[in-house]
Amino acid sequence: MARLSQLSRSVAGKVVLVTGAASGMGRATAELFADEGARVAVTDLRHDDCETVAARIRKAGGDARAWALDVADPEAVPGCVQEIARTFGGLDVLVNNAGITAGGPIDGDDFEAQWQRALEVLLTAHTRLVRSALPYLARSGEGRIVNIASTEGLGATRGMSPYTAAKHGVIGLTRSLSMELAEHGITVNCICPGPILTGMTEPIPEAAREKFARRRVPLRRYGMPEEVAHMTLSLCLPAASFVTGVALPVDGGLTIQNT
Ligand code: NAI
Repeated sequence: MARLSQLSRSVAGKVVLVTGAASGMGRATAELFADEGARVAVTDLRHDDCETVAARIRKAGGDARAWALDVADPEAVPGCVQEIARTFGGLDVLVNNAGITAGGPIDGDDFEAQWQRALEVLLTAHTRLVRSALPYLARSGEGRIVNIASTEGLGATRGMSPYTAAKHGVIGLTRSLSMELAEHGITVNCICPGPILTGMTEPIPEAAREKFARRRVPLRRYGMPEEVAHMTLSLCLPAASFVTGVALPVDGGLTIQNT
């Protein structure tokens, strides 16, 4: 049957760079894009683990290569992005996903260190990745940036101010860059995941996770990393060309539940 829609729902052949792709949502995102025919740069601090992810993708018939990249290293980012673009012949999609937990009370001894680290990894790194990727994304004609924020970017949890401030910053950065990069045809959006089962939440005892989900999440469970990855993919489809500056909660209803 002839296709009726003129707007493509395929990312086949697109070159995608995912940060923090050795685990959790980054891994799921890399695997999903590869399943959909994209060519994926799997990057992470943990080189062996991202090599494993890339090898698994290749074994399943996909196209992926691994790069060790610490997003908080200003010296490393430009060269790595350049090498990825050279290897794949361009860059169409940047997913700023790498993250850490960082928190502690404002009067804690460790506060300054937590604050610096949170802003460095969760916010400043995004700007560096975007600056390095910009020439390639602009050349793509359908450039896409997706930043992984958090429901902590829309609300707040006591004692988490470094993380919460950084994630609020990610939403602000997303909105601002969506204005600035529109002239290059690049869309900039962010996702605000609620509680998701990943390396980050694994240390939380199961009983505590279940209690939290029952009390706070209308769908009464943690989300799976793949459920976030699918929304990231959706924002990167050619057909999503008129969506920019959005902060999309993927949270089982957490942010709209009043009581
Ligand atoms: P995860 O711990 O499973 O994965 C995070 C990955 O980022 C790891 O592979 C880690 O090695 C990598 N990473 C950490 N620092 C890095 C650095 N400096 N450079 C490069 N890679 C680095 O955690 P998850 O949950 O998949 O985290 C992904 C993103 O989702 C993070 O930005 C996190 O803040 C965010 N998020 C997570 C939620 C959750 O409930 N799991 C909820 C809301 C947001």
